Amino acid sequence: MVEMKDFGQGSRVFKGNARKVSAVVKNAGMKKKRQKLLFRLASYFKSENILELGTSLGLGTVALSLSNDFAAIHTVEGCPNTLRKAQDYFEKFNLHNIEIHQKVFKDFLADTVSEKYDLIFIDGDHNGERTLGYFNSLLKNVHNDTVIIFDDIYWSKDMTAAWQQIIANEKVTVSIDTFQWGMVFFRKEQPKQHFVIRLG
Ligand SMILES: C[S@@+](CC[C@H](N)C(=O)[O-])C[C@H]1O[C@@H](n2cnc3c(N)ncnc32)[C@H](O)[C@@H]1O
Repeated sequence: MVEMKDFGQGSRVFKGNARKVSAVVKNAGMKKKRQKLLFRLASYFKSENILELGTSLGLGTVALSLSNDFAAIHTVEGCPNTLRKAQDYFEKFNLHNIEIHQKVFKDFLADTVSEKYDLIFIDGDHNGERTLGYFNSLLKNVHNDTVIIFDDIYWSKDMTAAWQQIIANEKVTVSIDTFQWGMVFFRKEQPKQHFVIRLG
């Protein structure tokens, strides 16, 4: 058992803070299919500078870390005990392109002023208002070819409302709604267009 604190909106499954690692992998960690998709997306886009908000035990981080030879991952997590576990896994798998930041998202984003990211994966704190805040703060960290992936855009009414505001933002050109994930692109040469696709 590990004493874990969820720094975000929290879980609908867990009540206390003492959690079994296997249960966290099952409930808070991403499914294998999603892990593979994340790997494929980062490989396809050849993303180098990658940011993940919400490390948990690092399932997404591992996928991003292995996606291509040039990938450098920054992953942010508020809970020190969870991070210690994740770090054990990264060491065990010999992954050396991961920089861990033990911070709350807001503080990390406030300190990250001039960094530009190719791919950003937001997988924590499923609160609409705060998610919108993270997006607005991240606008300073995107370039023409950045992709931002939001997890759980239909988790709650306020998350869906945030997603609607995000895709309406003038800087966003293309968006893809896959139900669990929402992806936004900023390519100026592309006309504004919203796609809805269902992934099996
Ligand atoms: C759904 S889990 C992340 C799953 C992980 N990406 C994976 O692939 O397995 C969300 C994590 O984000 C962290 N988190 C949520 N809100 C946060 C915040 N505002 N600041 C820092 N960490 C936060 C939680 O503590 C939790 O460990």
